[in-house]
Amino acid sequence: MADVYILGIESSCDETAAAVVRSGEKIVSNVVFSQIATHQPYGGVVPELASREHLKAIVPVVRQALADARRTYDSVDALAVTQGPGLAGSLLVGISYAKALAFALDKPLIAVNHLEGHIHAVLLEERQKGNWELNFPVLALVVSGGHTHLYLAMQRGESWTYENIGHTRDDAAGEAFDKVAKLLGLGYPGGPVIDKLAGHGNPAAVKFAQAQIKHPDRKDAPALSQKTRQGWGTQRFDFSYSGIKTAVLRYVETHNMHPSIEARRTALAQIAKPRLEDYLAHTDKAALDLVASFQRAMVEDLVGKTLAAARACDAATLFVTGGVAANNELRQRFERDAAMEGLPVYFPSRPLSTDNAAMIAAAAYPKFLAGDFAPLDFSAEAGMRLSG
Ligand code: KG4
Ligand code: ZN
Repeated sequence: MADVYILGIESSCDETAAAVVRSGEKIVSNVVFSQIATHQPYGGVVPELASREHLKAIVPVVRQALADARRTYDSVDALAVTQGPGLAGSLLVGISYAKALAFALDKPLIAVNHLEGHIHAVLLEERQKGNWELNFPVLALVVSGGHTHLYLAMQRGESWTYENIGHTRDDAAGEAFDKVAKLLGLGYPGGPVIDKLAGHGNPAAVKFAQAQIKHPDRKDAPALSQKTRQGWGTQRFDFSYSGIKTAVLRYVETHNMHPSIEARRTALAQIAKPRLEDYLAHTDKAALDLVASFQRAMVEDLVGKTLAAARACDAATLFVTGGVAANNELRQRFERDAAMEGLPVYFPSRPLSTDNAAMIAAAAYPKFLAGDFAPLDFSAEAGMRLSG
């Protein structure tokens, strides 16, 4: 089979990204324009601002991806774009541009689920390293600012199929990192800062109760397949992170931490790009201990539940992907605990853990081989699920 070059476009949240990937196995170029600076003053992503930033960035970002790949518009074989889930206005910027390009160039267009993209980020990099050995079923934990989802992935021919066997009932894990960082005056996004500071505090200082999920999810739990149900009954492997965020708030209040938090918020706001030393200079021991304990509780919950699910469904391989997969303690804990169970675990490199378009172009490759192209009237699906 001749090499297939796919130009991927991603604009689901606050990164405008474009990449060229060869045959799902080699990143030829990968450009990510992050809007963090735009959203930072608001402590989170502002959807209207995100759409406007995508509009400004999409053309130069795509041009850069082609220039870095030394390719012309004509020399790519197909275009791929994120259809959802994500912010509707942001998704539409990428989709409209990709449709126009595909139409003008007379190239096939492939619609990709963002979550499938995160899963294929792992596969892409393993193939790039020369690792073609992969045993199914694969259990994939997609853990980011918007998602904490467990998928059981199988392969049918070149195509992948997915079954969702667990998800968060409330906040995503990355959202909990972001909200706790905001509460403690550490800015946005919270994950990378908490990751760096946690090593400087005592993770045993504050005890957090593990979230107990007793009730079945009536709201929107997709029914488990017959085969899965036979395996482990009706059990799902759901997560919940709004409780720990409230527990951190209560701890802050009962320990009178507000004055020091406000002082830190004010001090850090004066520094354009705070470095670790700046954070440390303005963070007292009580806050460092709280951060370390919060991260430890998050990591134990994510790892414990994922490995329980892996045992129950007899997973042969584990993927951990999405923005939170960049977390150092999470990686170490997964590596240690999965090794004890003889389960191979793979992560994307840090740049490919957070949102990017290489993962979209990689996930599009099996669809290209299957001729699974999008009709030109397809649209954004903000709440898109991954299944089938
Ligand atoms: O995958 P991503 O870039 O965007 C979404 O699809 O949501 O993930 C962003 C999320 C944010 O919540 C951010 O705080 C979190 O990933 N994150 C981290 C780390 N780096 C990013 N969380 C914990 N530790 C990190 N090192
Ligand atoms: Zn993402």
